[in-house]
Amino acid sequence: MLTPAAFRRRFPALQDTVHLASCSQGALSDTLSAALVELQHTMRQDGAPWGRWMAEVDTARRLFADLIGADEDEVAVVPTASAGAFQVASTQDWAARPTLVTTDLEFPSVAHVWLAQRPRGADVRFVDEREGVASPEEYVAAVDETCGLVSVPLVSYRNGVRLPVREVIARSREVGAPVFVDAYQGLGVEPVVVHELGCDYLVAGALKYLLGLPGIAFLYVRRGLVDPVPPSATGWFGQADPFAFDPRRIDVPTHARRFESGTPAIPSAFGAVAGLTVLREAPAAEVRDHVAGLTARLHEQLVDDGEKPWSPADPALRGPQVAIRDDRPDALAAHLAERRIVTSPRGDLLRLSLHYYNDTDDVDAVVRAIHEYRKAAR
Ligand SMILES: Cc1ncc(COP(=O)(O)O)c(C=O)c1O
Repeated sequence: MLTPAAFRRRFPALQDTVHLASCSQGALSDTLSAALVELQHTMRQDGAPWGRWMAEVDTARRLFADLIGADEDEVAVVPTASAGAFQVASTQDWAARPTLVTTDLEFPSVAHVWLAQRPRGADVRFVDEREGVASPEEYVAAVDETCGLVSVPLVSYRNGVRLPVREVIARSREVGAPVFVDAYQGLGVEPVVVHELGCDYLVAGALKYLLGLPGIAFLYVRRGLVDPVPPSATGWFGQADPFAFDPRRIDVPTHARRFESGTPAIPSAFGAVAGLTVLREAPAAEVRDHVAGLTARLHEQLVDDGEKPWSPADPALRGPQVAIRDDRPDALAAHLAERRIVTSPRGDLLRLSLHYYNDTDDVDAVVRAIHEYRKAAR
């Protein structure tokens, strides 16, 4: 297991770059660079190396299942988190239980998938954001016997706030409603064991804190969950036997692969395996504590410097990100980028996110650079 300093050395670009954008795209590891070369090598050697490539997809599935404490057959490989959300929505019977609970703090693409269920009969109920936070009481109160699906992000993309996932799952169980957790903004730095958490579905893509590439995401589906309606999007990879080649028959399996469709993105599978492999070198509890220490330092220094973080002051509510308000976050991000500090502007916020490869120098450097920017603007 690697210390933060040893882990950092696996990311050569961090010698001259402060990477505070893991909420957008994780940094490039030596393992990911090597995996992309290996992808070319497989083509050069074998021309059409499908056996090798499908093994890579299965390795990605297994590594993801290990990361969240699931079994391999509880994980579907999907192209995006939104596609995973769509598959889940498509299997609900909105006539029987019309309410779909979500929140303003949901990533919009997932919320859009939920809203698009309205013509199919879903009644989408939003839990309000209040000063960057969703209240546990309001979330729990939104869940009742009419719920066909309850969606709750682990951590919000907007400001890194943690959502009351455990409370929402407990309440949903009381009323028999399945729960969908979007863990994209936490997984990789927040330990999750799905069988303990008790959610029915969990989704995350590979490119952010999981240190892979765009084009692949994973959908955990609790074993034994029965779909009221079969998935709308299907294809050969979603069949019990993808190689049955029977165009007249759909044969949906009971395991999570029923949510898969066509050929997976092979370069992204190489990327996912690389990211998940390098992540296994980092001890989960220490990653969480290291990141918590850095976000606390960053939050405190920004407040001391007169910034207005839009992330919670309460460390218990804070995930791996600190967001600050700014009228022109793109301009601020460009100023920082000129100094090789990579950040992620969104709307009226500049998002600064931390991983195990970040250190206190990174935090101090960004606070100093923001200070200079403000001073020059005065
Ligand atoms: C929490 C969260 N969910 C979903 C998404 C979108 O994922 P995809 O583009 O894979 O659908 C993002 C992307 O930033 C995100 O942060």
